[in-house]
Amino acid sequence: MKPEVLQILKEYGQEHILNYMNLLNEEEKENLEEQISKIDFNQLKNLYEMTKRKVEFEEKKIEHINYTNKEKLSEDRIKELEEVGGKIIEEGHYAVITMAGGQGTRLGHKGPKGTYELNTKYGKKYIFEIIVDTLKRAKDKYKITIPWYVMTSRENHEDTVEFLEKHEYFGYDKTKVKFFMQGELPLIDTNGKLILDKDKKIKEAADGNGGIYEAVSKSGILEDMKKNQIDWIFVSNVDNILSNFVDPILLALTIEENQKIGAKSVAKTNPKEKVGVFCKMNGKPKIIEYIDLPDEMAEQRDENGELQFGEVNLANYLFHRSVFENLADVKLPYHAAFKKSGYLKENGEFVEVEEPNVYKYESFIFDVFERYDDITILRVKREDEFAPVKNKEGNDSPETAVKLYNDKM
Ligand code: UD1
Repeated sequence: MKPEVLQILKEYGQEHILNYMNLLNEEEKENLEEQISKIDFNQLKNLYEMTKRKVEFEEKKIEHINYTNKEKLSEDRIKELEEVGGKIIEEGHYAVITMAGGQGTRLGHKGPKGTYELNTKYGKKYIFEIIVDTLKRAKDKYKITIPWYVMTSRENHEDTVEFLEKHEYFGYDKTKVKFFMQGELPLIDTNGKLILDKDKKIKEAADGNGGIYEAVSKSGILEDMKKNQIDWIFVSNVDNILSNFVDPILLALTIEENQKIGAKSVAKTNPKEKVGVFCKMNGKPKIIEYIDLPDEMAEQRDENGELQFGEVNLANYLFHRSVFENLADVKLPYHAAFKKSGYLKENGEFVEVEEPNVYKYESFIFDVFERYDDITILRVKREDEFAPVKNKEGNDSPETAVKLYNDKM
């Protein structure tokens, strides 16, 4: 091993990596050295240290966030908003990003989440196919093929591209589809040590959907948007099969309220639901993610008996292009998640695990919201727009999502 690489490993207490050297051939050693030289060990050290700290809310002033309830809008008002927003879409100033860089481990599906097949009343459909169905409906309505950008990660990029190629983009114009890859960070175990994967490399994983800002800029997607005069970009999760991501109403409302960011919410009914919730913190818009929300706060109710933190983040975000332009170099905080990850033992044996054993560090797309004074929020009906496929069974599973999809579509 090169002396400078050795030095780094020693300095950061990662010498255990040396114990694997006898398992590696020359090429594998070189690959590992190269990988080590690219890791920011100082950042990792800081991340590990912050893992043990609890998120503090005491010092913060937390208030309700304002939203517009779609259900309460009159038919005329809806029509008016649809016209304003619809015009911008028709004129080609609107694009869609699907964030599909996650691992989908909770679903237990080997492969990108978008390649998961569901049994709908129209027959079997892949999640990506359902997304394309929505894009095709928009094409019929607005007579334009909306550009579709898909965010992937190193782990699933090839499989994602291959899958959509194989299925001929489910009939969508492939020249309007572009992929871009987000960044990664190493996983570390409970002692702050790196782990090795089957391929004898240090195990890394996508660094959270907050990686979107850097990725959009570095990959040239932002340039592409600018060239094509895309002003508004709708970003959503891959896993919500009722996602209404071509939405002239949210678009028109965001413009009318003079905001650069719009988002959709639904009412939270179960305090235990694993979702992010909107609020205002120290006067700025904010989403508190479920992993950071203490139980006692999740259970809190206001004077009307409604959950104090009851405005669920649907992961449907609308951005003006300037947000991506201004935040291309943004440094976001990382949140630690405790996850399961198989690893290589020093004797060369690969172990699968049953219980969480590693920390994964992720930044969140919505952690930029507090940089803005306000954002537009449109509350929609859950049964209209929220059918997430997250867990293998129970809540938010293929079964519950398909039922919602079948009822609505
Ligand atoms: C997410 C939201 C949560 C919201 C819920 C609604 C985040 C952090 N949380 O929860 O506030 O209430 O959706 O369903 O977004 N992804 C990447 N790269 C990554 C990690 C994730 O592209 O590195 C993508 C995933 O593929 C997925 C989306 O981001 O499409 C969200 O995934 P995940 O981080 O698992 O968040 P959820 O628990 O689904």
